[in-house]
Amino acid sequence: MSGPLVVLVGPMGVGKSTVGELLAGRLGTGYRDTDADVVATAGKPIAEIFYDEGEDHFRALERDAVRAAVAEHTGVLSLGGGAVLDESTRALLADRPVVYLSMDVDEAVKRVGLNTARPLLAVNPRRQWRELMEARRHLYTEVARTVVATDERTPEEVAQAVLDALELPDGAPSGRENTP
Ligand code: S3P
Repeated sequence: MSGPLVVLVGPMGVGKSTVGELLAGRLGTGYRDTDADVVATAGKPIAEIFYDEGEDHFRALERDAVRAAVAEHTGVLSLGGGAVLDESTRALLADRPVVYLSMDVDEAVKRVGLNTARPLLAVNPRRQWRELMEARRHLYTEVARTVVATDERTPEEVAQAVLDALELPDGAPSGRENTP
C-alpha cells in the first residue's frame, strides 16, 4: 500500500508537528500537516474558519485535506486533533501506519493553555480538554496501530519511540519516494 510512512494522530498540543518534523528529518522524507493544508485552501487561519463559517465547514475542509494527503503524501503526515471524528476518515486510516501520540490532562493544559489559535479550548481548557478526550480517546485508539505516550518525554524521545514502535529505519532514507 503506498501512502504516508507514518500518520500521527492525537489531541491538540501533543506535539504532532514538532515530532512529525523530527521524524521526517530522521527518515529523510517530507513532512505534511492537514491543518496547514486546510489553512492554505481556506486562505485564513483555523480560528477564523471556525468563527466565520463554523465547525462543520472546517470539518468538511479537513476531511478533503486528509483524503488528498493520504493519497499523495509518502512521508510523515500529521492530522488535526479532530480529524478522527469523521467515520470515512477512520475507514481510510485502516491498515495504515498510524501512531496515537497521547498525553494526560495536566500536560495538555501546560502545553496548550489559553491558546486562542485553538478555538476548541478557548474558554475552560481543562474541562474542555477532558470532554474532548472522553469523546475521542477511543477513536484515536481505534485508528492507531500503536500508542506512544509523550508525558515527560522530549520530542526527540517521542520521535525515537515512534521509530521503534513502527520498526522504521533510523536515519535512512525511506526509498519509498521513488517507488512507482
Ligand atoms: C482541532 C485540532 C487542531 C485544529 C482545530 C481543531 C480539534 O489541530 O485542527 O483547531 O478538533 O482537536 P491540532 O491538533 O494540530 O492542534
